[in-house]
Parts: sequence; structure tokens; C-alpha cells
Amino acid sequence: MIKRRTWLKNSILGLAGAAVLSPIELKALEAEGDALFTALRSPDIDEKYWKKIKRQFVLAKGLRYFNNGSLGTCPQYVVSATNQFRSTLDAFPSKYMWGGWEINKEQIRRKAATMLSVSEETIALIHNTTEGMNLIASSMDLKEGEEVLLSNHEHTSARIPWKYWQEAKGITLKTVDLPLIPENKEQVVDRFRKAITPKTRVISIVHVTNTNGMILPVKEISEMAHEHGILVAVDGAQSMGMFKIDLDDLGCDYFTSSSHKWLFSPKGVGLFYAREEAQAKLKPLIVCRGYENKTIRRFENYNTRNLPELLGLGAALEYRDQIGEERIQNRVYELKKYFRDSLADDKRFVFKTPASDDLSAGIQTVQVTGRKSTEVRKKLTDEYQIDCRPMSSHDLNGLRISLAIYLTKQDVDYLVAALRTIAG
Ligand SMILES: Cc1ncc(COP(=O)(O)O)c(C=O)c1O
Repeated sequence: MIKRRTWLKNSILGLAGAAVLSPIELKALEAEGDALFTALRSPDIDEKYWKKIKRQFVLAKGLRYFNNGSLGTCPQYVVSATNQFRSTLDAFPSKYMWGGWEINKEQIRRKAATMLSVSEETIALIHNTTEGMNLIASSMDLKEGEEVLLSNHEHTSARIPWKYWQEAKGITLKTVDLPLIPENKEQVVDRFRKAITPKTRVISIVHVTNTNGMILPVKEISEMAHEHGILVAVDGAQSMGMFKIDLDDLGCDYFTSSSHKWLFSPKGVGLFYAREEAQAKLKPLIVCRGYENKTIRRFENYNTRNLPELLGLGAALEYRDQIGEERIQNRVYELKKYFRDSLADDKRFVFKTPASDDLSAGIQTVQVTGRKSTEVRKKLTDEYQIDCRPMSSHDLNGLRISLAIYLTKQDVDYLVAALRTIAG
């Protein structure tokens, strides 16, 4: 509770104390927050607890949202806090845009760094994964003939930046084809090992694929790459917030993500990580006043920017803190198991996602045999108010089901029943 007071109250009052809320309004907000946080910290973790969490998210009534992989949603607490930050900004624009929230920004950096088990001097507060991948790909000083390895499951936001910024220099983008359902991590590492040549300079890989939710073994690939002096860049759009991440342990050089997916922050906020020794290789995408800054902050030097949303990330991290990252991870895996078990004995469904927990988590892609995924998805939406993503690439013809903590087992039962009816 002390944490919440510090965050929300300080953020709204700002350094010079220009309050946009009356003391009574501020007290009411605090009381609401106290009750919420006490409930979130409850030691009784049962289905009732998760139903309460579901009610705190602002999704439309009746909508079953299995599409967090496309875009996340926010708890009401984060929406309210962000709205307050917007009002505060508009009450005194010049003060808050340029300096009034510096301390709060630094608090967010620290919170994010703690969550990812790295130093705050390695974290920049950016807008999204697309920006982070552009920053990496535009920075690399590669020479004609040198190579960058990408997997065949990279998102366009992690492939096009390499194409755009580097191909004209005559570098080669080499695609490493991954098994759709690897038997183990080593099979994936081996594919990269075999693709490395003396000209390979960077391996740029997705952490959790947006296609079938496969987790790539970033730690093992980074260890192997570093033995050859190769840099490793990771697109963490789908992994950050889905499960616990220790970047120090993963050992990659760069990692970037969008907090509007699995962290449940407002939209247009993301995080960028660069190992301290790897920062010197980066060049800011945007330069303006303050460009001489030598710290990681030079990669978030936008002048005017979306500060209320960024501060909303602070509220989202604070909300998650109350639940606990471990509890969030366990719930994601619990929902995964519940969903897979529910369809396990039904031959009409084929999972296109590896089953083992070190190879997949909160994204599961499932095919309804004999049906087109786009048609199944349309029926789910039109007849059941279920949203998920049809996936046709990589011969998947499957439905990408995202299992985030605002879903209950009842929601999964509802989805499974709908799928069985549609399967016929
Ligand atoms: C794996 C992956 N990378 C990158 C992106 C791009 O994210 P953003 O639009 O937030 O930059 C996505 C979005 O779905 C994604 O799934």
C-alpha cells in the first residue's frame, strides 16, 4: 500500500505539488487502491481469486478475449491511473512534459529492470518492439558479404528492419527453418549452429513465436553464438509478462518488447534492453536536444512523447507486483495445461504448438481438422463472441489461442465447447 501511495500520489502531484485532484478525491482514489491491492495479495489462490482478477479488467461484457497475442488489455486500475496522468499533464502541460515526471520515469526504469533481473542502466523506455528492432537493425555496422541469421518464424517487425536497413549494403539475411514441433531445445539450437559461418555477425530471433507460441532457447543460442563472437538480438514481444524473464541469465545482447501485450500497460509503450558492453554499437533512431547523453536514455530521447501512457506502465507494473510475477507465470501454465488437457483425447483437434513447458507457455495454436482456420474463427466471433487469431502461415491452418490471466477456466470451457460444436 505504501508503494501504491508513493507511485500514484507522487505521479499525480508531481514534484512541485500542482494537484489536479482535490484532497477528497485523492483520498477516495487511495481507499479504492487499498482495497484492490489487499485483494490482489490474497494468499488464497483458487478459481475465485482469478474470477476477481477477470472482473478488474475492462474487456467488453460477454467478450471472451483469447487474443492477447495481438494486443493486451488493461485492468481498470491502469486505465484510471493513465486517465489521471492525462488530466495532470493537461493541467500544466509544459511542466509535466519536460521534467516534472523525471523521477517517475526513473522509477519505471528501475521497476522494469528489477523485473528483468538487470541493471536500470540497460533499460530504455521506448514505444514498441517494432521500434526496438529498428534500433538494433539500423545500428549494426555490417559489411558486404556478412550475414544475419533469422528464424523462419520472425514477425514482420523483426524481419523487415533487417531487410530495410542492411540488405542494400550487400549483407545476407539467412533464414533458419525451425521444426514446427521440436522434440527438445537442442534441436532448435542445432539448426542455428549448422547455419553459422565465419561471416555470421548477428543472430536475430524471436523469444516466443507469434505463429504457434513456440519458445526459442535464447540462453543456449546466446551461449553458442558468443563462442563465435556473434551478437544475439531478441524480439520479446510475446514473452515479456507471459513468464518470468532473467535477461542476465538469458545472456542475449539486445532484447525488446511491447508492454501493451502481456504486461497489460496502455498502448504505445515498450521496453528495450542492451547489455552494457553492447550499447556502444547502437545509434539512436531519433536525435534531438540531449543527444550527447551517453547513457541508455539516449535511445528514448523523443522530446515530446506519450508520457501518460508511459506512466501507465508504472501502474501496470505496480498492479502486477501485487499479484507477483511467479503467480502470473504459474497461472499462465495452469491455463495452458487446462486447455490442452480439455482437447487431448479429441481426434478432431491437432495442437501445432510443442507441449513441453520449456517450449511453450501462454500461446497455443490448435487446428480443427478439415476446417479452415479463418472460417472457424469467424464462427467463434459471430456466434460465441470469442476473439482469437487465425494462423495460416507455416502450414498451420490453426487458431492461435492466448491464455492470459484475465481468463478463467470457465472461459476455457466455453471456448472448448464452442470448438467442439464447430468441429461437428
Ligand atoms: C513476435 C512479435 N514481434 C513484434 C511484434 C510487433 O509488436 P508492436 O506492434 O507492438 O511493435 C509483434 C506483434 O504482434 C509480435 O507478435
